[in-house]
Amino acid sequence: MFDQLFQSISTVVGYLVVAVFFIFLGCRPPWCTRRSPECRKRQVQDIPGPLSLPILGTRWVFSFGGYNFGKIHEFYQDMYRKYGAIMKEEALFNVPVISVFEKQDIEKVLKSNSKYPIRPPCEAIAQYRRSKPERYASTGIVNEQGENWHFLRVNLTTDITSPKTISSFLPQVQDIADDWCCLLKQLRNHDCEIPNLEFVVDRLGLETSCALVLGRRMGFLLQEHLSDSARQLANAIHQHFIATRDTYYGLPIWKVFNTSAYKKLAESEETIYTLALKLIHTADEATKESAVFQSVLRANVDERDKTAAIIDFIAAGIHTLKNSLVFLLYLVSKYPDVQKKILEDSTKAYLKACIMETFRLLPTANCLARVTEEDLELSGYRVNAGSVVLCHTGIACRDERNFKDACKFYPERWLNEERSQTASSATFLVTPFGVGRRICPGKRFIEQVLPIILEHTIKNFEIQNVRPMELQFEFLLSPKGPTAMIFKNRY
Ligand code: HEM
Repeated sequence: MFDQLFQSISTVVGYLVVAVFFIFLGCRPPWCTRRSPECRKRQVQDIPGPLSLPILGTRWVFSFGGYNFGKIHEFYQDMYRKYGAIMKEEALFNVPVISVFEKQDIEKVLKSNSKYPIRPPCEAIAQYRRSKPERYASTGIVNEQGENWHFLRVNLTTDITSPKTISSFLPQVQDIADDWCCLLKQLRNHDCEIPNLEFVVDRLGLETSCALVLGRRMGFLLQEHLSDSARQLANAIHQHFIATRDTYYGLPIWKVFNTSAYKKLAESEETIYTLALKLIHTADEATKESAVFQSVLRANVDERDKTAAIIDFIAAGIHTLKNSLVFLLYLVSKYPDVQKKILEDSTKAYLKACIMETFRLLPTANCLARVTEEDLELSGYRVNAGSVVLCHTGIACRDERNFKDACKFYPERWLNEERSQTASSATFLVTPFGVGRRICPGKRFIEQVLPIILEHTIKNFEIQNVRPMELQFEFLLSPKGPTAMIFKNRY
């Protein structure tokens, strides 16, 4: 009798184990999932998206689904076409990642900003930094969350975001723009062509970032000067973005094995750290007087966080500025009449409109990510607090419902009578530097740099593009270089 009882109990336990296993794999009995929509609000699991495999989720699309990481921007464009306003991917262990494309949903997510907004961290960078406690006291402003992030942000970025500090850079930025134009003249071939614009813009990014953070000119724009370490630093930053993309969007096998993407990430972190440290150590009197450098040194944070912040600030500006400037020059180079209007407008309003229009059409940060901190209703689905949501501002900016002739480069939409309509459509959509408390601390500086560089370039040269630009996703939307451009003297 005991035998029989024991057998029945083991059979019931066996069934329970199997049932729990299937529930873990995401399978639900019909009476659990197939309730009519009237019975309950649509939930995250009802959001449409590509086929999700148990445990592995939807990341298979990047291996044998016809997409690769370089084309992630096209993947999302296709998903929008296929599924509409909202779609869901599933990461490892079927963790949902929701994408929203509609202005009202994007606004809801970005508006619901708490004291410590959460941008999903790059886990691989965080893991690497945690493995080096002798260098890093934290994972840095970009990846920290909560009170830790707030503490670093308040203590390390107050000066870099102050209008007074930024306007004190004006003369240096003017000099940099002059040197940039001289370098373009020197590097052109006999057809006035710069065959690889990215390479020259990298030097500008290095020079500008160091001017901001170290408060002095490094000479990266002198024709013969480009040192090996400057070249290595620019390459390492490029590699860093690509490896971040591969570890972020790929299956997180790097958590267990030292995958090639993780190795590349670790190598580039190492190179950036070593080379940027070398730059800091060459500090001269000018650096010691630099407002930004001094404010970081004075900050009431761990010494390791100071060094990491200076390195992160130098690195953060180079690739982002490169992509943004190449996109800007590319779009302006296609329209001689736009260049003429830039020259004719002494108020500089047209020049600024060109920059805004580039940020709308080709934003290097084409999507903002957040972890929701309250329950939200997005396109009719109930999304619980704690969900990862990607706000596809770049796709929404090309939507006719948000902007008329949305795919056209039309700076005039930012001026005169069209201005207020464009500005209201642009809220939460044209957000090149992000929004809320996690907004880019380099915004003010870059907003000062870009108009000056564009103005100097157009005053010196008539620019023409050589071939259509292809795009590539490198964690940021980037030109798939090399971008060739013609710079003909205006006088
Ligand atoms: C064209 C140039 C740049 C672009 C397009 C850009 C864009 C962005 C974007 C979109 C974010 C995320 C904001 C969000 O989640 O809401 C960000 C964050 C950040 N950027 Fe920039 N950035 C640029 C230049 C710079 C520069 C020059 C610095 C140097 C200070 C910098 C430092 C940072 C840092 C430290 C963060 C993290 C902020 C935080 O999480 O609190 N960026 N940037």
